[in-house]
Amino acid sequence: MANSCRKLIFNIYLVFYCSAVIMPHICICSQFTSSPIDQFNKDPRAFPIATNGEIFPWHELRLPTVIIPLHYDLLIHPNLTSLDFVASEKIEVLVRDATQFIVLHSKDLEILNASLQSEEDVRYRKPGESLTVLSYPAHQQIALLVPEKLRADLRYSVAIDFQAKLADGFEGFYKSTYRTLGGETRTIAVTDFEPTEARMAFPCFDEPLFKANFSIKIRRESRHIALSNMPKVKTIELEGGLLEDHFETTVKMSTYLVAYIVCDFTSVSGTASSGVKVSIYASPDKWSQTHYALEASLKLLDYYENYFDIHYPLPKLDLVAIPDFASGAMENWGLVTYRETSLLFDPKKSSISDKLWVTKVIAHELAHQWFGNLVTMEWWNDIWLNEGFATYMELISLNITYPELQFDDDFSNTCFEVIKRDSLNSSHPISNQAKTAIQIKEMFDAVSYNKGACILNMLKDFLSEDTFRKGIIHYLKKFSYRNAKNDDLWHSLSNVSHQLSYRRLLNCLESDSASGGFCYSDSKKTSNTLAFQLAFLRKNVELKEMMATWTLQKGIPLVVVKREGRSLRLQQERFLSGVSKEDPEWGTLQERYLWHIPVTYSTSSSHAIHRHILKLKTDTLDLSEKTDWVKFNVDSNGYYIVHYEGQGWDELITLLNQNHTLLRPKDRLGLIHDAFQLVSAGRLTLDKALDLTRYLQRETSIPALLKGLEYLELLYRMVERRNISDVTENLKHYLLQYFKPVIDTQSWVDKGSVWDRMLRSTVLKLACYLNHAPCIQKATELFSQWMESSGKLNIPTDVLKVVYSVGAQTTAGWNYLLEQYELSLSGAEKNKILYALSTSKHQEKLMKLIELGMEGKVIKTQDLAALLFAIARNPEGQQLAWNFVKENWTHLLKKFDLGSFPIRMIVSGTTSHFSSKDELQEVELFFESLKAQGSHLDIFQIILETISKNIKWLEKNLPTLRKWLLITT
Ligand code: BES
Ligand code: ZN
Repeated sequence: MANSCRKLIFNIYLVFYCSAVIMPHICICSQFTSSPIDQFNKDPRAFPIATNGEIFPWHELRLPTVIIPLHYDLLIHPNLTSLDFVASEKIEVLVRDATQFIVLHSKDLEILNASLQSEEDVRYRKPGESLTVLSYPAHQQIALLVPEKLRADLRYSVAIDFQAKLADGFEGFYKSTYRTLGGETRTIAVTDFEPTEARMAFPCFDEPLFKANFSIKIRRESRHIALSNMPKVKTIELEGGLLEDHFETTVKMSTYLVAYIVCDFTSVSGTASSGVKVSIYASPDKWSQTHYALEASLKLLDYYENYFDIHYPLPKLDLVAIPDFASGAMENWGLVTYRETSLLFDPKKSSISDKLWVTKVIAHELAHQWFGNLVTMEWWNDIWLNEGFATYMELISLNITYPELQFDDDFSNTCFEVIKRDSLNSSHPISNQAKTAIQIKEMFDAVSYNKGACILNMLKDFLSEDTFRKGIIHYLKKFSYRNAKNDDLWHSLSNVSHQLSYRRLLNCLESDSASGGFCYSDSKKTSNTLAFQLAFLRKNVELKEMMATWTLQKGIPLVVVKREGRSLRLQQERFLSGVSKEDPEWGTLQERYLWHIPVTYSTSSSHAIHRHILKLKTDTLDLSEKTDWVKFNVDSNGYYIVHYEGQGWDELITLLNQNHTLLRPKDRLGLIHDAFQLVSAGRLTLDKALDLTRYLQRETSIPALLKGLEYLELLYRMVERRNISDVTENLKHYLLQYFKPVIDTQSWVDKGSVWDRMLRSTVLKLACYLNHAPCIQKATELFSQWMESSGKLNIPTDVLKVVYSVGAQTTAGWNYLLEQYELSLSGAEKNKILYALSTSKHQEKLMKLIELGMEGKVIKTQDLAALLFAIARNPEGQQLAWNFVKENWTHLLKKFDLGSFPIRMIVSGTTSHFSSKDELQEVELFFESLKAQGSHLDIFQIILETISKNIKWLEKNLPTLRKWLLITT
C-alpha cells in the first residue's frame, strides 16, 4: 500500500488526500478496495482528467455500485421569462462499501454547491460539510470528493445546488412554445429524460437499476400550473407572489421516468373503474381535441389493470400534448407526454389512420406503466423488454378495447417492417451491447420494438394465450418496483407453462393431437404419441434455450420446404436479403446460425393447424394424406420466411387464382410478403412474385390487397426515381388498368370499416400520383371548393391528404396551403398539409420548406425530419434533400443529438432509397467524412448495405420486370 501510495505522489488530487484532508494516519490508498481503484493505483494515467485538471477518480461509463440512491428531494424553479432554472436537491444514499467519493451523472448543469451530512448530522441538524466537485463531461459525470471516507452500511444525505438554462432541444428540462389563436407566443417548460437525459435536469444516478423515491417541489408563477409524476399535496405561497407546489412522493422508480412540466394548459378528466383520475392536458386552444384521448385512456387503463391483475399504483395519470416533442410519446410514470399528433384528435381533420395512431400510442404508453415503469430492464441492452412488450401489448389491448379498429389485421406489418432490416447482415441481436449514450439511443430501433413484439407474438402462439398471460403476470408481480433481464422473463413463462403443460397433455391425449390445439410434434417417428407430448413437457425447460435463439442471435430464419411424396423436408437457414446462394459470401454468413422455430402449417386436406418445432438444420415431417398444397406459418404468426421448393410456389399461385379463400386472409398476406422477400434474396424470380399478385383483383381482404399494391408502388417509385421511362410508363399503365375496378369504386366520403377507409386513402393517393384523370379532377374540384370557402369546407378526412397534394401542384394552391399551415390548430391537418407541400415539383418551393424547417418558426424543428424524409421521397426533391443534409450536417447536429430518432430518420430517409453505384459512392464518402469527425452511427452500415442491395436488385430484376410488363399488358 505504501508503495502504491508513493506512486501517486504526483497526483494532485491524491496528494491532497494522502496528506491533509484525511486523518494523517490513513492514506487514501487503504480505502481503495474495489478493482477500479486498484487499477487506479497501478496506473493513474488510465484515469480521466477532470475539467479543473485534477484526476477524476472514476474511468467507467457505468457508475460505481458502492453507493445507491434511496430518495431524492428535488426543488426546481424554472423561470419562463429568463428561460433558465435554479434548483436544489438532497439525495439520500446508502453506502454499500466504504468509499472516498461519490460519482453521479450531470450534464450541462452548473453545480453551485455540494455538501454532505451523515445520518447523525441530519438528526442533530448539523450543517453539511462542503464537498469538492470534479467534473468529467465526456462521461457526463461528476465526482464529489468526501473529506472523510463514507462508511459501509450507513446512510448519508448529499445536498447539491445547481442551475442551468432550459435546454434548446428536446431533451432534459427544455422549453417549448406555442402560438395562441390571438397570435401570442407562449412558453412552457417540460422534461424528457429517456434514456440518459435526467442528468441534464438534476445530478443523479442516471441508470435504470438505481430506483429510488422522488419528492418533487416546483416553484411557479400564478399564471402557470405545475405537473409532475404524482398528485400535488399542497401549494405554498412564497414572498413576491411565487407559488411552490409540493407533490406526493413517488413509488420506487428509475430516473428516466421522472417528469415535470410548468405550463398554462387546460384539461379534461375522468375516473377509471379503479378510481384513478385520468386527465388529458393540452394548450388552451386545443382543449376541444382532447376528448377522444380521454375516452381511450380510460378504457385502456381499465383493460390493463384487469389484464395484468395489478392495479395501476399511482392515484392519477396525466397525458399531456407537448407542442415540441422529438419522438412520438414518452411514458413518464403518471405524467405521460405526447407529441400533439400522438394524442389530440380533431374529428374534422383527423383521418382514420390518425385515429389508429393516437389509439395505438396511448395503448403503448399505458402498457409501459407496467412494462417499463413497474418492472424495468436492468440495462439498456434489454430495452426490448420495455419497448417490445409495449408494442406487443398494443395488439393485445386494442383487439379487446377497440375491435372496430381491426388492429389485429395490421400486426403482420409490424413484423414485415423489421424483417427488411433484420435480413441485412448489419442487423443486431434484440439484446445488444450498449455502452455510450449514443449506443443506448440507437437501441430504440425497429429490432427492439418490432422484432421484440413479433417474437412475443410467436411465443404467445406457441404457449397459448392463457399460459402467456399467466407468465407475464408472474413476471410483473415478481419483479414489481425492481429490474429484470431476459432470463427472468423466460423463467416466469416456463414456470407457468410447466404447471399448465400437464393439463394440456391431457387435452392433447383426449383429442386428435393435430386438431389445431397446442399439441406439438417433435419428429416424425414420435408424432402423435404420448412420447412427443412428454417431450413437450421438457420443452418448458428449454424455453430459455429456444428464446435465446431469437434474442441473442441477429437475423431471421428462412424455412425451406420441399414436398417429397408424402413427406415434407424442412431445412432452415439464415435469410439474407441482397445475398444469393450463389454469392461467395453466402456460406460464411450462414455459419453458426440456428433457431428453434415453432413452425405451423396447414394443408389442402384439413383446416387444422399443425405444429412442429424445428430445432435442427433439417427435419422431415409426414403428411397423413395426399395433399395438393401446403402453407406454412399459419396467420403469419411466426418470425420466419418460408420458401417452397419444387412446385410449391406454383401450387400456391394456382390455388390463389382458383380459390384464394381456401387460404386464410393473413396467409395470403404472408405469401405476398414472403414472395417479394425471396426475390430480394434471389430465391424466387420477380415474375413469379408478380404472377402471385395477379389474383389480387378478386382479393377481398384489404390488408392483403394493400400489401400487393405496396410492393407494386415500390417498384414504380424505384424505376420512376431512376428515370427508367419505358418501365415507368408501362407500370403506371398496368397499375391503372389492373386496379381500375378498385380505383373507380372508391367514394370520396368518410365511411365504411377501418380498412375500407385505409384502402380509400391509399388507392386514391396512388391514383392521383399516377395522374389518373378522374382522380385529379375530383381532388381539384374539392380543393377549389375548400379554397373558395376560405378553408371552412370540411373535406372528408381520409382524402384530405390527396386533395391537398393535388392542390399543392399549382403555385396559388401551394401558397394557400402554406398560409393555412400557419393558421391550422390541428396537428393532424398540419401534417397532411406539410406532406402535400413537399410533393411540389418546384425546387424553389421545396427549398423554401427546408429553410422554414431550419428556422423552426412556421415549420417547427420537431417536424424537420419528417419534412426532409417527405422531400427525399419526391423524385424532384431527392437530390435537394440529400445535398442539404450533406451540406448542413453540423447545423442539423445542433438541433438534434447524434443517435437520436430524428437524426437517424433524416440520414436514412434521404439516402436509403438510392440504387446506383454513384449514389452509393457519394453516401460512402459522406459517412467516411463523418466518421473522421468522430460521428459514427450503426445505421450507416445498414444504409450502405441497403443501397448495395437496391443496386443488385435492379441489375437482376429490371429486365424481368420489363419483360413481365410487356407480356402482361
Ligand atoms: N419510451 C419511448 C420513448 C423514447 C423513444 C425514448 C426513443 C427514448 C428514445 C416511448 O414509449 C415510445 O416508444 N414512443 C414511440 C411511440 C410508440 C407508439 C411506438 C415513439 O416515440 O415513436
Ligand atoms: Zn415505448
